[in-house]
Amino acid sequence: MDRIHIRGGIPLRGEIEISGAKNAALPLMAAALLSEEPLILENLPRLADIASMADLLEGLGVEIKLNGTTGTTGGRTAELSAKDITETTAPYDVVRKMRASVLVLGPLLARYGKARVSLPGGCAIGTRPVDLHLQAFEQLGAEIELAEGYIEARAPGGLVGAHVIFPMVTVGGTENLLMAAALAKGETVIGNAAREPEVADLARCLIAMGAEIEGVGTDTLRVQGRDALHGALHEVLPDRIETGSYAVAAAITGGDIHLRNARLDLLEAATEALVRAGVSIEETPNGIRVASANGQLKGVDLMTEPFPGFPTDMQAQFMALLAVADGASMITETIFENRFMHVPELCRMGADINVHGSSAIVRGVKQLSGAQVMATDLRASISLILAGLAAEGETIVNRVYHLDRGYERVEEKLAACGADIFRQAE
Ligand code: EPZ
Repeated sequence: MDRIHIRGGIPLRGEIEISGAKNAALPLMAAALLSEEPLILENLPRLADIASMADLLEGLGVEIKLNGTTGTTGGRTAELSAKDITETTAPYDVVRKMRASVLVLGPLLARYGKARVSLPGGCAIGTRPVDLHLQAFEQLGAEIELAEGYIEARAPGGLVGAHVIFPMVTVGGTENLLMAAALAKGETVIGNAAREPEVADLARCLIAMGAEIEGVGTDTLRVQGRDALHGALHEVLPDRIETGSYAVAAAITGGDIHLRNARLDLLEAATEALVRAGVSIEETPNGIRVASANGQLKGVDLMTEPFPGFPTDMQAQFMALLAVADGASMITETIFENRFMHVPELCRMGADINVHGSSAIVRGVKQLSGAQVMATDLRASISLILAGLAAEGETIVNRVYHLDRGYERVEEKLAACGADIFRQAE
């Protein structure tokens, strides 16, 4: 397994290009199943999760042509054609690796009237059930059975629109239902819908494919089902979590980085927290500039919430930042029940953090020190890289495959801004 070595203490300066958003790209790729005409996606990031989704779709019979880099950004373009679907089962081996595989359920059920998807198990950050996805499909008339570790869904006469109110905000549930509703008979109203920008990006792509959706970006989505959707071309929006992670890299090293292609409007809660911590952020004609000129950081309190609140996917990175800020900070995690796995690792680097239930008290220390660390999820792993950039001495981050699921060429992007970082392949 690869490792990343970092020698910390260098203020990062330069430019980083932000890639297309992983969490937008995954549902967008699944949306290709809704039409027999090709869906062309631009600005796809080069990530392990994107390759896993491509494998899953190819297993179902989707033809995928990778056309290198076209469009206005550096991402890849893929043409996905779901003309001849030969299989409606998403097997355990793929779903086990990537929970977002469950996003093929809605499109398959809506277009073919049946789907069989391995039930995702729990994962490092929590139990993460998919009960709300399944209840929503049942409201649209699907019959759902759980057998031998698989979700077996059937709607022989097609799905019928309904009024679905999610009892809690679910990003994947909203996306799955939105895709299914696009081909259901009549109107579907989705109440308490997730407002994450990735959901809005999917809605915009579905509209380009001929879907009729009102309320994009709000918590009520109104969908008039269509008999069929057509092909379209869609550019994946920039990754707000990658943006936030590199903003923290600038802040934690007392550096100054321009984040090309980044969009401030996708990251207001995290931006506001950075500003409160003493970081300066300015919008530029083609991105965002983040600087922490005097390197003085102040503690801030944070609570993760659905969008537009502070994102759970930025919690670990802020924990690393606040570990070296002046004073105490309280971080409360409300989305996942077990998303503090980075805490013991940060403490091994000298951080002073105490967890009480869903909250962590972070008392800032003057200096972190390098150590061998490892993490069991994606955002925990990047938080250790960020801590390593600020720490004295060498940090070695093990289990880098977690990072490769969601950060494109992380060591190259950081090295281009002066970081002393390299990957040791094994
Ligand atoms: C998406 O996961 C993201 N993944 C996650 O990104 C992100 O952390 C999460 O949204 C929250 O913003 C993708 O977009 C591929 P949810 P998702 O359904 O859709 C509970 C990353 O690091 N819930 O909004 O799976 C669930 O257990 C990641 O890139 C149910 O109880 O998240 C959680 O506590 C990891 N039943 C909460 O809701 C359900 O049926 C929110 O989950 C569905 C969810």
